Amino acid sequence: MSEEINLEDDKRVYIFDTTLRDGEQSPGAALKKHEKLQIAKQLAKLNVDIIEAGFPFSSPGDFESVHQIAAEVEGPVITGLCRTTPQDIEATWDAIKIAKKPRIHTFIATSDIHIAAKFKKTREEILNIATDMVALAASKCKDVEFSAEDAGRTDRFYLYKVIEAVIDAGATTVNIPDTVGYTIPEEFGRLIRDIKLHVPNIDKAIISVHCHNDLGMATANSLAGVMNGARQVECTINGIGERAGNAAMEEIVMSLHVRKAYFDGCYTQINTPEFFKTSQMVTELTGMPIQPNKAIVGRNAFAHESGIHQDGFLKGQETYEIMRPQMVGLEKSSLPLGPRSGKAALKAKLQELQLVIPEEAMVDFFEAFKRVADEKKFINDEDIQHLAITFQKTGQPL
Ligand code: KIV
Ligand code: ZN
Repeated sequence: MSEEINLEDDKRVYIFDTTLRDGEQSPGAALKKHEKLQIAKQLAKLNVDIIEAGFPFSSPGDFESVHQIAAEVEGPVITGLCRTTPQDIEATWDAIKIAKKPRIHTFIATSDIHIAAKFKKTREEILNIATDMVALAASKCKDVEFSAEDAGRTDRFYLYKVIEAVIDAGATTVNIPDTVGYTIPEEFGRLIRDIKLHVPNIDKAIISVHCHNDLGMATANSLAGVMNGARQVECTINGIGERAGNAAMEEIVMSLHVRKAYFDGCYTQINTPEFFKTSQMVTELTGMPIQPNKAIVGRNAFAHESGIHQDGFLKGQETYEIMRPQMVGLEKSSLPLGPRSGKAALKAKLQELQLVIPEEAMVDFFEAFKRVADEKKFINDEDIQHLAITFQKTGQPL
């Protein structure tokens, strides 16, 4: 196990970033080697605990990219994914062993659906493969993660058996993926709690969660996992990933940060002011835009347009904001002007642009503003300048 991972601190939540592996599995998001390195360096600035740099056996290009990140990126643990085969494990080890803190991450599916359809094997055979391959990985690297793919749909008692066996074989982190985003927060939380209760050697490993967003539950499920004892969360920047994506790191980390007491003091060591920059970099390099209302990093996440909200915000920021924009790397909140904006925000904008409209003319000026706002979707600074200058010249509304 990496010296960084401290089983004694039961409040510390480790952040495992898989933007470069699961995130890159988003259709159309493929990244070039130098782009992956650029993102990995930014993830190190964000202070993530673990970077999953790729899947080395999947292509020579991915092998090289993982190797380069392992050689050049300092700080986080560097891992690569591999199936439970000797060739895969060998390739991952060759790619990452140069890292100061390498980890082998190996996986096999444990649900009956996968065992029957994909492998045409028995549960017993899968259990044996998992333990043999974890033992092989552990003979090379002291930090080994095992993932029970499709754990969310795996028979409970079989899952407990697999987890116990892989920990005995040397796994230091056991990851519980909700691979197809099937579970509901309460149910997923209970699964983690039951793993803690029913796997006798579970205190020798970190429990990790890895949730997909097929039902829009990835963040909620990950947090339910933390509530019930998971201490590693696997996630991606902007929530990119297979199909509907993975849990979004910025949402999980800021939830733990803003609601620390609710989460019983659980914390991460993420450098949150780097979020906005990281999000923009991932958007730009993957070509995957995020919706304006995306939590934490969307264009509108700190924008207030309605008159009541703008007025409240100007009287006290905490009326409509649960965190400061600077906490996630934004310079400030914005009060965009539109048809539902109020006088308070209009006055604030005039002040910002150093435009003077006498108080007694404000009613007329506000009416003129509303007429323009009704016509246009967005009112920008030039519109306000034009409106004010015309108004100042003629003393008449437009
Ligand atoms: O979703 C999943 O199950 C995975 C595993 C390989 C960890 O991505
Ligand atoms: Zn996944």
